Amino acid sequence: MDGRYSGLLLRTLSGLFIALTVGAGGGVAWFLLRYPRVASPNPVLIHVTAALIERGRYLANHVAVCMDCHSTRDWDAFSGPIVPGTEGAGGQRFGKELGLPGTFYAANITPAGLSQWSDGEILRAITGGVTRRGRAMFPVMPYPRYRALSETDAEAIVAYIRTLTPVAREIRPSQLDFPMNVLVRTLPEPFVPRPPPDRSSPVAYGRYLTTIAGCSACHTRSERGKPIQGMEYAGGAAFDVPRAGRVQSANITPDSDTGIGDWPRAFFVARFRDPTSAGTRRLLPRDRRLNTIMPWTMFAGMTDEDLGAIYAYLRTVRPVRNQVARFSGAS
Ligand code: HEC
Ligand code: HEC
Repeated sequence: MDGRYSGLLLRTLSGLFIALTVGAGGGVAWFLLRYPRVASPNPVLIHVTAALIERGRYLANHVAVCMDCHSTRDWDAFSGPIVPGTEGAGGQRFGKELGLPGTFYAANITPAGLSQWSDGEILRAITGGVTRRGRAMFPVMPYPRYRALSETDAEAIVAYIRTLTPVAREIRPSQLDFPMNVLVRTLPEPFVPRPPPDRSSPVAYGRYLTTIAGCSACHTRSERGKPIQGMEYAGGAAFDVPRAGRVQSANITPDSDTGIGDWPRAFFVARFRDPTSAGTRRLLPRDRRLNTIMPWTMFAGMTDEDLGAIYAYLRTVRPVRNQVARFSGAS
């Protein structure tokens, strides 16, 4: 999360900002009325079944990894597994050291945090980026990628988070700096309901899963907040791991020398099943340098079909030659 967002947004929106400053009073009023552009929340209650909740549990924990951000993480263990009892309770902080234009706190999405919210309001927040009260969220809450969710998958996630153990935890409000606190209003977009992904095509299904899992956000290096064109999935984005050192994301393009080009499908899937990915292992101080923010513990729960589809999709992205040293702290 090394400033992927801010530069991009600043660039694309600065024109609008200048227009507003010049237009002054009338323009500001118009702007505040027009944005955020969101539809009223869908009034329909989700028809909840055990299968829908199970699908939501799977997506929220192992693919879209909502729980990765909305829980407390144990950075004394490999890949920062979730501290039991904090699932969905929020509080994780995302600050300026990540290149963000403010300080953000993941919300409490257990039923204690969302007791006032209708199903439609939660759906709208996940896919459209506005809170119940209509406040535009900054995409550190990654709603732009959740816009790709099929309608059923989005509903499944809502059905699941309704079943989390309620944790009464007050979360500090997120704080956005000027001018982003104004510009953020232009980012939400109404959700366009989508049909389920086509599972008969591993590449299409893999693209869907890769999108909602956010692989590209971590595996593409950015400059002043903007993903570098031509470097998609080529790795090299740097992250500070709490209580560890620096880690750089791997090159997962199909380049044979520097990427995963010579990885057979079975090896790719097995990489996610590695026992060290179980996250139960407490790390000794000297192993800490090999700790990582790659959510191995969460993705390890993906099915062979889904990991295979992600693999199939990643074979189709442009191979990029880019040698990455993943762990700089290690000898
Ligand atoms: C990369 C971290 C991250 C991930 C992944 C993530 N969120 Fe969030 N989420 C946040 C942050 C940070 C906020 C607070 C944003 C703000 O206050 O502007 C938030 C806010 C929310 C809110 C608004 C709640 C409120 O009280 O305002 C909901 C609902 C939500 N997230 C649900 C989800 C769901 C469901 C998923 C998975 C599909 C998810 N989030 C994935 C970071 C994340
Ligand atoms: C939060 C950031 C983050 C996300 C999200 C993420 N990765 Fe990673 N990934 C990393 C980092 C950092 C590394 C390097 C350190 C390591 O190996 O754990 C890495 C390593 C890897 C490796 C190991 C490569 C090797 O040479 O051993 C693979 C494979 C991989 N990621 C695939 C994926 C896929 C597929 C997704 C999406 C399903 C994904 N990653 C999502 C940060 C991320």
